Amino acid sequence: MKKFIQTLPKVELHLHIEGTLEPELMFELAARNQISIPFSSVSEVKAAYNFHNLQSFLDIYFQGANVLINEQDFFDLTWAYLLRCKNDHVMHTEIMFDPQAHTQRGISFDTVVNGIHRALIQGMQELGITSRLIMCFLRHLDESAAFETLQQAQKHKDKIIAVGLDSSEIGHPAAKFERVFDQVIKDGFLTVAHAGEEGPASNIHEALALLNITRIDHGVRCSEDPQLIKKLAEKRIPLTVCPLSNTKLKVFEAMEDHNIVDLLRQGVCVTINSDDPAYFGGYMTDNFLAVSNAHPMSKAEIAQFTFNAIEASFISRDAKIRLNIVIETYLEVAQQH
Ligand code: ADE
Ligand code: ZN
Repeated sequence: MKKFIQTLPKVELHLHIEGTLEPELMFELAARNQISIPFSSVSEVKAAYNFHNLQSFLDIYFQGANVLINEQDFFDLTWAYLLRCKNDHVMHTEIMFDPQAHTQRGISFDTVVNGIHRALIQGMQELGITSRLIMCFLRHLDESAAFETLQQAQKHKDKIIAVGLDSSEIGHPAAKFERVFDQVIKDGFLTVAHAGEEGPASNIHEALALLNITRIDHGVRCSEDPQLIKKLAEKRIPLTVCPLSNTKLKVFEAMEDHNIVDLLRQGVCVTINSDDPAYFGGYMTDNFLAVSNAHPMSKAEIAQFTFNAIEASFISRDAKIRLNIVIETYLEVAQQH
């Protein structure tokens, strides 16, 4: 099964590019940009990645992002992630970025988006990996900051497909961003939002009702509400689930307690993603392996995660048909062995 998972073609839909900053690159960029960081070695950095909840992670995540200054830094960060994708057989990826984590420090929106975008273009040309870009608002900041960020995004509409909502869920409800998401939709962007990661199932209802989202990031706490599970399954509203993230941030104590396979078997459009792989101990293949080790599945069930991700992705109908054929063929050949 390990080999089947390693070479299974994959689609990633929930990945924060700032969360791919490996400690080695953090040191390299700190030296290049003469930024001081409160660590003296890679092992010291890794020792600090001992989280007890979402906030304890976010504090370190924003601190890490401080070494990103120039367009080349954002390019290097994104390129390193794309090489990981190649290694993990990721065919298509939809990545999120947090512009406010950078503009707040005086880095221009253009610097951030141009660096990431240049790497994505090169990823398509040299690695054959297709991609989309999602801009997220930090929900711990206020509505006016989100409006300002939306303004800065206007000249990059050709590069950004969707707008999302991330950072601290508790205390920052979807309602705070209802008006700005109305504008986001009028401006022609798709919408997604983190909901039901640390917050209750009611946050998922609220995000669906107020933000017109086409998929939910995390959403695992839907299990508290059987009616909600039924609705998600019937309407095929996708959840971008991040298994290793959930156990690292204590959303579930152990992978054996995770509900993703249970949701899959109930017909929910669940997908496997890596969230912030440099911080949570694994990229796409590692996430698939962790789920499969804790919850034995058939090859068809494992492949269903990629079929779901194709269905939930922001690519064209034709591109979805092409990718579905790739997985069908892969599964057919694998089942003969
Ligand atoms: N930003 C980066 N990773 C996140 C997560 N798992 N939840 C909320 N905001 C995030
Ligand atoms: Zn996330």
